[in-house]
Amino acid sequence: MLTMKISALLLLFLLQSIVAFGSDPDPVMDFCLPISPSNPLSCKNASLATVQDFTFSGIKFPGNFKKSGFFATPVNSKIFPGLNTLGMSFVRADFDVGGVNVPHFHPRATEIGYVLEGKIYSGFIDTNNKIFAKVLEKGEVMVFPRGLIHFQMNVGDSPAAILGNFDSQNPGLMKIPNAVFGSGIKVELLEKAFGLSTKELSQLWKRMDYLDLIQK
Ligand SMILES: *[C@@H]1O[C@H](CO)[C@@H](O)[C@H](O)[C@H]1NC(C)=O
Repeated sequence: MLTMKISALLLLFLLQSIVAFGSDPDPVMDFCLPISPSNPLSCKNASLATVQDFTFSGIKFPGNFKKSGFFATPVNSKIFPGLNTLGMSFVRADFDVGGVNVPHFHPRATEIGYVLEGKIYSGFIDTNNKIFAKVLEKGEVMVFPRGLIHFQMNVGDSPAAILGNFDSQNPGLMKIPNAVFGSGIKVELLEKAFGLSTKELSQLWKRMDYLDLIQK
């Protein structure tokens, strides 16, 4: 009876330790290819790994940015399991002329954006609502500190592309328009918060749908 109680306590303790793995861990082995995406903490036998596990071709070409003017291909550890436990990931973002990456933030990572092609108005806002923004040209980089709202727009006269690099294998993404207007917050609250009428709000929703800002 006593041993059962002790085992139960031990199990509870172990479960709590699993739940506490909330950050990018420091690797204690060369790499950890997860046995399954839902179980990133158990690794495949390393002798089964091949070079294919550590290469990714999915951002060789631009995503379909023609539809809404912008397309991002996030490459995190779920999409590219070779990144598991390595504490980093990346994204390719393609912009049509005038295309916009709406204000958004990554709760778990600082990002460095490197302009692969084009001219991009790029910036972030700090917690004093101070803006830091300028037009970046091909080959230039900008850093977006962890958790701060940032944005980009192609201000050149040809398509543009950015490679974003994150110091987390799973940076997370919150788009401000989607979070505020697409999550189901009570209409009355949105009206009061933004000084909009019901009609203006529904016009906004139609327009955002059109712009494909509310992604499914
Ligand atoms: C990994 O695979 C190798 C080769 O098949 C085998 O010798 C080794 O025992 C395995 N290691 C583990 C921890 O299963």
